[in-house]
Amino acid sequence: MPLADLHIHLLPAVDDGPPDWETAEQMLRILAENDVKVVAPTPHVWEQDWQGIESRHQGLSRLAEMAAQLGVKVISAAEVWATPDLPERWDKVLPLTYAGNGKYLLVEFDVPEMPLYTEWFLFQLKVRGITPIIAHPERYFWVQEDERNLFRLLSSGSLLQVSADTLLHPETPAGKLALRLIRNGLADLLASDWHKPNSPYPLGLVVQKLRSTLSEGEIERLVWTVPLKIISGQNVQPAWQRSPFRFEIQAFISGAEHPTQKRRWWRFLTFWRREGESKWRK
Ligand SMILES: [Fe+2]
Repeated sequence: MPLADLHIHLLPAVDDGPPDWETAEQMLRILAENDVKVVAPTPHVWEQDWQGIESRHQGLSRLAEMAAQLGVKVISAAEVWATPDLPERWDKVLPLTYAGNGKYLLVEFDVPEMPLYTEWFLFQLKVRGITPIIAHPERYFWVQEDERNLFRLLSSGSLLQVSADTLLHPETPAGKLALRLIRNGLADLLASDWHKPNSPYPLGLVVQKLRSTLSEGEIERLVWTVPLKIISGQNVQPAWQRSPFRFEIQAFISGAEHPTQKRRWWRFLTFWRREGESKWRK
């Protein structure tokens, strides 16, 4: 099955990815062996990196030439740390979207705590026509601990990118949540988030593993169909809208009561009625 990997650290010496060109070339060869046809190197853009942001993509054309010889197409992108001053850097954000087309941006958040400006940040992107893609939501403690925070991310119109790396560790909280997102049809795309060749390429391994859980069509949606729509700037219907959780998520988004809360109110009301009735009988 052809793969499109939209979250990977492949540009040498710009972040915690490969340290040099030899390592990057070694990684490219492994990608080609795993039938990866399209790859979007996503160098980290942390808070301190905005000053020399243009240097983040230095070497992209050299990498693209090397990849083309192996039958792999390279697309420009980045993994952007969510910061509250995003609107001030607007002109610098656009080139970091997938293929620079201003439609989709990969964003990552603080792992231990949900930043207070999370929903505002995502809204800022949406009003500018950019759909945020949440990098590895399964890793965030605030998503692991409270499903309402996952619903908050979805209510902003974001897509969810689950990492193959976490799916290879199903015993961890992140691995468990990643599997739940995949099994319940809440993930929009799968990507490797591979950093260095000292660990095996996780996306190829996970595709093999998922064959016992998901249909071929569903796997293809996660690793090929949706990623291709993203890089060509086409509309993607968020996966949750077809998931078994869609009514619960829709109720949360529209501000309706959670079904369990409704049951609690119902219990309270019926109790009150019974009390009233008994009073009348007396
Ligand atoms: Fe990453």
